[in-house]
Amino acid sequence: MANTHDTIAVIDFGGQYAHLIATKLRRLGVHGVIRDPQDPLDAFAQVKGIILSGSPALASQGEATGYNKAIYDLPVPILGFCFGHQEIVKQYGGRVEHRAREYGPADLHITHGSPILKGLDRVEPVFMSHGDSVVELPRGFVELGYSTLGGGPPHSYAAVADESRLRYGFQFHPEVDDTLHGERMLSNFLFEICACRPSWRMDRFAEEQAEAIRRQVGDRGVFLLASGGVDSTVCAWLLQKALGPERVHLLHIDNGMMRLGESAAVVEAFRSHRVSDHIHFVDASEDFLRAVGSAVDPEKKRLAIGNTFIEVFQRESRRLGMERYLLAQGTIYPDTVETGGTKRADTIKTHHNRVPIIEEMVARGQVVEPLAELYKVEVRELGRALGIPEAFVARHPFPGPGLGVRCLCADRIPSGYDPAAILEAAGPIAARHGLEALPLPIRSVGVKADLRAYDLPLMLWGEDWTFDGATLCAGAIFKEVPALNRCVVSLQKAAPRRAALVPATLTRERLDVLRWADDAVMRGLSRHGLMEVVWQCPTVLVPLRIDEGDGELVVIRPVLSERAMTARVAPLPPKLLGELTRELLDLPGIGSVAYDITTKPPGTIEWE
Ligand code: XMP
Repeated sequence: MANTHDTIAVIDFGGQYAHLIATKLRRLGVHGVIRDPQDPLDAFAQVKGIILSGSPALASQGEATGYNKAIYDLPVPILGFCFGHQEIVKQYGGRVEHRAREYGPADLHITHGSPILKGLDRVEPVFMSHGDSVVELPRGFVELGYSTLGGGPPHSYAAVADESRLRYGFQFHPEVDDTLHGERMLSNFLFEICACRPSWRMDRFAEEQAEAIRRQVGDRGVFLLASGGVDSTVCAWLLQKALGPERVHLLHIDNGMMRLGESAAVVEAFRSHRVSDHIHFVDASEDFLRAVGSAVDPEKKRLAIGNTFIEVFQRESRRLGMERYLLAQGTIYPDTVETGGTKRADTIKTHHNRVPIIEEMVARGQVVEPLAELYKVEVRELGRALGIPEAFVARHPFPGPGLGVRCLCADRIPSGYDPAAILEAAGPIAARHGLEALPLPIRSVGVKADLRAYDLPLMLWGEDWTFDGATLCAGAIFKEVPALNRCVVSLQKAAPRRAALVPATLTRERLDVLRWADDAVMRGLSRHGLMEVVWQCPTVLVPLRIDEGDGELVVIRPVLSERAMTARVAPLPPKLLGELTRELLDLPGIGSVAYDITTKPPGTIEWE
């Protein structure tokens, strides 16, 4: 297809954010295309500018030297973020070192004017996630601003430029929503520096995709595993638009890890809107529980759940005579990048729709994934464009393995768990914020500077704790104590003193406890009018007994996000937290309640 739009190439160094950059460019009306670092110069033939993404590699150790440096001879502006910023500086003779880390929300203090910072305030909230830093600028470059994070010392060279060569670098990530005016920075690059014209339009996507589905499917039909979440619902509607309800077969599998009463509600909704003429339902909860068995490792659990989905799907498709249909999935872009699906992204966690058996089907062209390029916010936009009722489009995202990844399992205290060492490092920081600290003997998944991190949580407590104080404290702790990737505030009346691991696997009983707890939290958010404010709110069952608590720990994890690549903590009103604590402690099997106050990074949204 001839491209008549102005194009910017985004070189994907495997960071979590490269695709997000391209999406943001498209939103600004410019065609953003992803390029590989080793691509030949022809791949950059018509571009009006180049953006270098972040990367899990460390520029200080020269790990990503394999890219095509001939791009620097092209007469087009180049802008780098994070790792890309450091590469530009190195290219022209500056220095990068492995120095003080910065993770999370920071302030950019602008000290020098530039067209790339046009229209911005002197101090701008930005998002940082790096372990390397520029320590010396090349000749011809100037510092446009420095950064500060969580009351720490200033960090030089947060934004730099060489206006004559048209080379720019940001240590922070303007492409994530937490950089408040990131879009303005990107638009400055596109329109002030690269002289692009906006012409790319998103609203033709539904038509284009429907056409693509018809081409791929031919005269066959498709079979969609429809969980009822936003992605599979939008996918179902799009398939119906492309093929008609007669050729769309929906299968809803109750994997035993759904929310309270959810399966029945989902099936009824598809039926009443005639999304498909063939809606099938199967209760396979036994199969899933058996498959997970006594696995405690999150990746093993996910793999077992993912494989069971396929087994049940194959069994059901044989039973229903559907082998000749294609498999449709509502996979969205973060599902693939976070599984290491793009070439360089480090594996952060394996999503069930990217297990090997499905990868094989994808390679054989047997899978239809019309949403694979989109982020959640775009899926919702597409859903609205397709006329899907708001009640579906606005639902909180829910992971495929459902409550399975929110019901933590463990058989032993994590190796390397050294509460004394953690307390020595984190205790004084907590004390400075008027809080007490208790390290917890359990691991949960996180992401730091684009790498997967399976680290420990710290429980904080204070008689008069405040949201601002506790989140500030957590930010300072993550900066200083690398063994921790999560902080939770205990919502109990007394300071927590002891945390004991209660070995646990995935059982129907524990899933039921979590189902009731999750339902209480969801009802609480609705009661307080917060369902649309909070982006997602996992409720997590953690096999820990805190002090004399009569049951496990439940953690409430409300987040604000747009695309799940990063997340901030959603502040919940103290009144709601009080109500939830009382209600949860009344449920059998729950002995303590805590509030997760971790940004992503360093913690992922889900605990597993
Ligand atoms: P994390 O926990 O990585 O989650 O910050 C980002 C978003 O992805 C969802 N998620 C999943 N979705 N299968 C899914 O379909 C999975 O295995 C899975 N794991 C996480 C998560 O709920 C959040 O919205």
